[in-house]
Amino acid sequence: MKSVITFRTERKVPRTGLMLVGWGGNNGTTVTGAIIANRKGMQFRTKEGIVKANYFGSVTQSSTVLLGNDSNGKEVFIPMKDVVPMVNPNDLVLDGWDISSMNLADAMERAKVLDIGLQEQLRPHMEQFVPRKAIYNPDFIAANQSDRADNVLTIEDKWAQVEQIRADIRDFKAKEKLDTVIVLWTANTERFSSVVEGVHDTADNLLAAIKRNEPELAPSALYAVASILEKVGLSHSQLSAATTAPTAGKHVCHCATVSGTLTLTNCLFHLPTTDYLHQWLAAEHLCSRSAGAG
Ligand SMILES: NC(=O)c1ccc[n+]([C@@H]2O[C@H](COP(=O)([O-])OP(=O)(O)OC[C@H]3O[C@@H](n4cnc5c(N)ncnc54)[C@H](O)[C@@H]3O)[C@@H](O)[C@H]2O)c1
Repeated sequence: MKSVITFRTERKVPRTGLMLVGWGGNNGTTVTGAIIANRKGMQFRTKEGIVKANYFGSVTQSSTVLLGNDSNGKEVFIPMKDVVPMVNPNDLVLDGWDISSMNLADAMERAKVLDIGLQEQLRPHMEQFVPRKAIYNPDFIAANQSDRADNVLTIEDKWAQVEQIRADIRDFKAKEKLDTVIVLWTANTERFSSVVEGVHDTADNLLAAIKRNEPELAPSALYAVASILEKVGLSHSQLSAATTAPTAGKHVCHCATVSGTLTLTNCLFHLPTTDYLHQWLAAEHLCSRSAGAG
């Protein structure tokens, strides 16, 4: 089979919101702190001396691309972030969900990732962030998470949970006057979900299964369906093609989060210009499962 794919690059960089599922975790607090530290040009002391916040190690922000050769045959490189109009991470507006109600400053301290001098500077900028109430199903994550689960949706009905996540996305978008939103999974790895015929196999079956409260539907699937229905960018390490591709239809792409692939695929496929890539990826059903390992 032959397909013709047309790419069109949006010229206007959208005002972009990033919603993290698991915002109060190690990854969520660290990415939030790192963006604020860069935005504000923070400096902090480490064992190696004074460090100024930077994006070294970021594929989009720090790497270059070979453009070609100049008239003398010399290779010409340009920053990857200048290849197409791309969102500057400093401009991302942040929000998210977590089963723990801890504010982001306390959660950053709990995570013990960032240097203490940086944490002290970040605290006043992070303590006002409190995650939205999350979908929690103890059947899908480790039992030791139940101690922190004090910020969960009390509605049992799965379709109502999907509707609440959709309302959260719309609320964030409206409040922050955003052009686009990306939902990124960085919550705990869930157990594998069985792929059940009549539940996960078609879009109609999946939606009907949610509406009848089918047990074998993980929170990650519900966040994904909510994102798909809101037509927002979605990057999800927990999803399998079988459980989401049919519902994705023309609205979603999926790629790995959390490790190397995360950086490249998210930045390339989500941050710059989301819509046409969604359509392309969805049309191609480029969905895969990586369960956190990217
Ligand atoms: N930290 C790393 O270096 C690293 C590396 C590779 C992969 N990962 C993967 O990334 C994910 C996050 O890692 P982490 O170190 O930040 O873990 P973490 O446990 O610190 O954070 C996960 C957060 O998700 C929240 N959570 C759990 N279920 C939720 C739900 N249903 N809805 C909303 N929030 C929920 C938890 O309360 C917690 O705050 C994990 O799946 C992990 O395996 C992490």
